[in-house]
Amino acid sequence: MGPRRQEPHGDTVTSVDFSTTFSNAWFPTPVFTASGCASSGKELAQFFPLKDIGAVVTKSIMNKARLGRATPRMAETPSGMLNSIGLQGPGIDTFIEKDIPWLVEQKARIIVSIAGETIEEYSTLARKLRSVSGISAIEVNISCPNVENRGLVFACDPETSRKVIDGVRRTIGGELPIIAKLSPDVTDIVSIARGVVDAGADGIALINTVLGMVINLSTMRPHLGGKTGGLSGPAIRPIAVRAIYQVHAAIPNIPILGMGGVASGRDAFEMILAGASAVSVGTASFGNPMAIPYIQDELKTLLEEKGFKQMKDAIGYAHRIDEVHE
Ligand code: SIN
Repeated sequence: MGPRRQEPHGDTVTSVDFSTTFSNAWFPTPVFTASGCASSGKELAQFFPLKDIGAVVTKSIMNKARLGRATPRMAETPSGMLNSIGLQGPGIDTFIEKDIPWLVEQKARIIVSIAGETIEEYSTLARKLRSVSGISAIEVNISCPNVENRGLVFACDPETSRKVIDGVRRTIGGELPIIAKLSPDVTDIVSIARGVVDAGADGIALINTVLGMVINLSTMRPHLGGKTGGLSGPAIRPIAVRAIYQVHAAIPNIPILGMGGVASGRDAFEMILAGASAVSVGTASFGNPMAIPYIQDELKTLLEEKGFKQMKDAIGYAHRIDEVHE
């Protein structure tokens, strides 16, 4: 049977239960924004109601306001994009005062992404967010590639990533789910994932961008002001699918927020089959601000075509096929 639903935002006529959960947080659909690609959602709200998608994952916020790295901060690459933003943002106090109430007004489900330069900064952010209402979960970004000191990419070290999550968990208490965002730039992503789960993470976000570089052939120097940047877009999707598959195989009960080059419902479906409980869409929204609702609709149609009554039954399905063939 062909797709029965063509228009985004049309009335839902499929019977697939599209909902997903991360610990005690419930989301009506498994398609979220990706942190950093739509700030706190205002740009995208011009194109569709934010309440119609699974969740808005906000740009990683730090304790103090920050201007980010020197320009140029973006470069196009084949099948991808390199960014070197450097965690620009208004700082947590302004964010709590202005962005959260606006998102609550939109009836969006909110996942707040936090980033810090020290383990203590993450705990400070958690303390400030602890009593803020309207938040569904916290994404702890320990994997931003655009920091001056590569030693500050906490997710590249099992011990420091564990310490960050442990600090946030202790500060925030047991209620709010914590999703740890990991870097693909490691030898063994499963060991990092196990460490953050042991430290109290309820979910894993996979993957942050891949460290890359572009040389400008006119100047014969690195193109980006920060020299290196994070590669996103379709070029990195197979890396993301591999990471999701490996982590789901090792820790099947931990929900994964998959991301990295999702540009269609098929891409989202692939990540869910690999083990993602939800997917985030980032780079695709730059080319098409309606990408998320379109991806949502395509995914729902695909699930229906494949005979799934609920999205949850498709999570990690690729592993079950392995079992049959082995
Ligand atoms: C940035 O602002 O530099 C990107 C953040 C990230 O990839 O974690």
